[in-house]
Amino acid sequence: MIEEQASRTAVLVCQGRAVGDGRVGVGRFSDPVAAQLLQGEERQAVERARSGSAPRQWRERMHYEMLNATSAVLVTRTVVIDEAVRSAGNPQLVVLGAGLDARAWRMSELSGAVVFEVDHPASQQDKRQRVDSLEPVCKSLTYVPVDFGRDELGPALAAAGHDQASPTTWIWEGVLPYLTHAEAEATLLAVAERSAEGSRLIATYPMPNRLAALGRRGMQVYSRLTGAKDPLENERHVSAWSPEQMRSLLAAHGLTVTSNVDLFATSRDLSIPARQSRFYGLGYAVVADKLGG
Ligand SMILES: C[S@@+](CC[C@H](N)C(=O)[O-])C[C@H]1O[C@@H](n2cnc3c(N)ncnc32)[C@H](O)[C@@H]1O
Repeated sequence: MIEEQASRTAVLVCQGRAVGDGRVGVGRFSDPVAAQLLQGEERQAVERARSGSAPRQWRERMHYEMLNATSAVLVTRTVVIDEAVRSAGNPQLVVLGAGLDARAWRMSELSGAVVFEVDHPASQQDKRQRVDSLEPVCKSLTYVPVDFGRDELGPALAAAGHDQASPTTWIWEGVLPYLTHAEAEATLLAVAERSAEGSRLIATYPMPNRLAALGRRGMQVYSRLTGAKDPLENERHVSAWSPEQMRSLLAAHGLTVTSNVDLFATSRDLSIPARQSRFYGLGYAVVADKLGG
């Protein structure tokens, strides 16, 4: 990420959730807070995408299609992650690279949980302005500014009051593609050190996928054609893992993979219209637990 600039991909994925709310994956997915975190043109684009009538004008039409396709990706991964958070039921939740994640404001299951949001300082500052007067529904919410490429996660969490003796659920959603393998490992080392028995890590990660690389190239071309800003301009995908690589990486840090879900297959199971989404590289959601004994 570029220093001092809030994440634009965080806005894009928030738009995806706002487009999906009440329309996609109904009964399994809901994020009424997402739209409230958007501003001006970001929110208007969501309203156009939700309208169900494709604009005639080609620029708007492309944006409409892009946001609807993004929504399919986001709804799918949110369903998988929310269910894994609920079933863990841990007293602490750490959201790594939180962006405009709204779980602390929308998941009533977190009412007894202490939540920490970790993010790049510029993205976190932007989020804090956006959440403004919204009240979290969790027991407590603490912001922890950390640049994974520069700062040490473990001491930052300790200073923020994270209890390493108590089980934690960690969410690492849509962040791994932006980290180098070394940054991912350093983060994982801190996660492992601070994971008491019963802790759970839920992460999404991309597979090496030439079609998805083509999709990201399409995003660049689309942005150039429409005069829009490319959300990936300052946040390039730099890493990918095979499920086997991910399993051994997690095992090396004492985390046992209990499920590894192909998100494209999951979108089908949920009847989410992810027709074009292979180009967006849905990737995998992995759940890994710190088991006892
Ligand atoms: C695609 S957004 C995902 C946000 C959120 N997890 C979600 O799924 O809605 C990527 C997030 O990773 C964060 N990020 C990327 N590189 C980072 C770094 N080096 N240090 C801290 N955060 C980083 C960005 O600030 C941004 O919030």
